[in-house]
Amino acid sequence: MNPMNKSEMRAVRIHDYGGPEQMKLERIAIPEPAANEVLIKVRAAGVNPIDWKTREGYLAEIIPHALPLTLGWDLVGEVTGVGKQIEKWQYGDEVFACQDLTKNGSYAEYITVSGDLLSAKPKTLSWQEAAAVPLVTLTAWQALNDMAQIKKGDRVLIHAGAGGVGIAAIQLAKRVGATVYTTASSRNIDFLKELGADEVIDYTKYDFSELENLDIIIDTMGGEVLEKSWATLKKGGRLVSIAEIPNKALSDKYEINASFCFIQPNSEQLSMIANLIDSGTLSVEVDSVFSLDEIDKAHEKSESGHTRGKIVIKVQEDK
Ligand SMILES: NC(=O)c1ccc[n+]([C@@H]2O[C@H](COP(=O)([O-])OP(=O)(O)OC[C@H]3O[C@@H](n4cnc5c(N)ncnc54)[C@H](OP(=O)(O)O)[C@@H]3O)[C@@H](O)[C@H]2O)c1
Repeated sequence: MNPMNKSEMRAVRIHDYGGPEQMKLERIAIPEPAANEVLIKVRAAGVNPIDWKTREGYLAEIIPHALPLTLGWDLVGEVTGVGKQIEKWQYGDEVFACQDLTKNGSYAEYITVSGDLLSAKPKTLSWQEAAAVPLVTLTAWQALNDMAQIKKGDRVLIHAGAGGVGIAAIQLAKRVGATVYTTASSRNIDFLKELGADEVIDYTKYDFSELENLDIIIDTMGGEVLEKSWATLKKGGRLVSIAEIPNKALSDKYEINASFCFIQPNSEQLSMIANLIDSGTLSVEVDSVFSLDEIDKAHEKSESGHTRGKIVIKVQEDK
């Protein structure tokens, strides 16, 4: 590659939907922040299943994207430019965010983000740990608090406890005093007990559907897992799926308040999450770290469906 022009950056983009080969590490112009936006030098980006689902085109009818598209919606970095209307943020501030899912993402050295989506980076986390937080923790927060209205004493089942959303959800549910059941394979049992889960069901040996009288289920799997979940809830229980829209006929039959949760970037909630992290209430698990030019390996790992915690892209070297 030729030496880089100072107005250029490296970014991983797709020009068409499809497999990992569609992702190209390219040199493109550094974006200019609009009046309400902040330009951020990205230190690290988080990888989420939505990244490869978007790459494949599975979400093309739900989220309108213009191609070429820079993937990745979790970011942490430093403010390097602000639009005319921005008062809260200034050069050098360390920030993190879940980017607007309709916009260009964070697999890039720079990104412009609406100023009202940014929060101060948790002080106790490294860049790479902070990049693992926004999308999954906001999803868990919104599913448990906004949708399921979790409260002390609730008996909650969180499917796929060792995934990005599961790890956040277990800790957020324990924080309010719920009893937490979760599912995972054998290798994650001890890890999830240490994280605070009251009972970890090894799905390779046992059937979670023997549980009964649950107040809340957070479904991260859909399909057969969702189908078998209904009968484990008490009448009037709450089922929140982040994987598939729950069947209305079944929610009526079992008398369950069922809903689908779709993550909304939210800086107020993310700031509360950052405070919980800095006060030691919430911990972060990074599964693996890749560089921008290893993006195909990062997606392959995410698509395997068996990571513990988060995959992170190191975009710039740590200071
Ligand atoms: N609607 C939304 O807004 C929203 C937001 C975020 C995520 N999502 C979706 O929610 C799902 C979960 O996201 P994520 O980021 O947590 O994914 P993830 O980190 O890739 O989840 C991986 C985890 O799933 C576990 N797992 C796989 N099969 C399992 C099974 N049969 N039973 C229990 N656990 C199983 C694995 O544990 P083992 O290795 O122990 O098997 C692994 O730890 C994805 O489909 C994602 O697209 C939706």
